[in-house]
Amino acid sequence: MPKTLTENFVEQFTLCKVTADETIGIIAELGQKEEYVAAAVAAARQLGAGALVLHASSLSNPMLPPYTADGREVAPLLAAAGECDFVVDVTVGGLIHSDVRTRITGNGKRMLFVAEPSDVLERLIGDSDLRGRVETGGNALRSGSTLQVTSAAGTDLTADISGEDLPITHQWGYVDEPGRWDHWPSGFVACFPNDRTAEGKIVLQPGDALIPWQRYVQDTVTIEVEKGFITKISGRGTDAHVLNDYFEAWGDSEVWALSHMGWGLLERARWSAFDVYDPRTLYGQELRSTAGNFMWSTGSNRFAGRETPAHLDVPMRNCTVEIDGAAVVRDGVLVQE
Ligand SMILES: [Fe+2]
Repeated sequence: MPKTLTENFVEQFTLCKVTADETIGIIAELGQKEEYVAAAVAAARQLGAGALVLHASSLSNPMLPPYTADGREVAPLLAAAGECDFVVDVTVGGLIHSDVRTRITGNGKRMLFVAEPSDVLERLIGDSDLRGRVETGGNALRSGSTLQVTSAAGTDLTADISGEDLPITHQWGYVDEPGRWDHWPSGFVACFPNDRTAEGKIVLQPGDALIPWQRYVQDTVTIEVEKGFITKISGRGTDAHVLNDYFEAWGDSEVWALSHMGWGLLERARWSAFDVYDPRTLYGQELRSTAGNFMWSTGSNRFAGRETPAHLDVPMRNCTVEIDGAAVVRDGVLVQE
């Protein structure tokens, strides 16, 4: 029998080592995702912890421009959230790329974003095995110098990932140590290559995924990349046209930048999820996490000082991902360590 949302939150908070002497801050938007707020509070109380609900009128960004950043509610939010031990983000869009996240985790607090339907949360919940494999992937990125991605369809992209301070995102779907952020559920590792170093070509194929549009690519699309930015998107079908239209809409050169790159590690995550579910009820974590995907992204990159709501995550099938010539994914299949 499927678990209730509250039962799922209790399991997740236990993974996150919530203790009875802690206070959990829950950041939400007024009138949105109220069942998540209620479940988080109930789970906190069940574990003996305190729960503080912080409602903002809205923290979500628009899907299309016009866009002007409005940080009015951020300072008071940070003041209150900063007093909590563990912050749960159930806003609609998630405070993923924002300053709010950086400042809460930078203060040593744990922070978890939750957006998926209850049965996805339950089916894809993290575990220590997944955590270990994500960390192994992160170590490979940290010790590497060049990331190269190729595919039979014609993708050939390289990026400089050298340096001790390379930003790496380890996502195993729970936060069990101070200063850590994660998104439940997750199962992937990614890095932000050194800025303006990505070069080459990405060739999208039918069945690759476009997130947060929550749909599959239908037609071949060729994306040319120079010095870390997309310079040309071409293809015969609708997808090239729509992608160009979307990027052009913002009137902002920064949305054309490449952002994080990495690969999926969660064997339970299924490529078919966008057809099995009503896709717009999903946040896309299942597709982001499919084992052996290559996922790249555009726009926001807080390590390069770029903050824009225009952020696409693009998990691709059948790619080979190599770090200094050693494959971690070959033809879309994880290479066993
Ligand atoms: Fe992303």
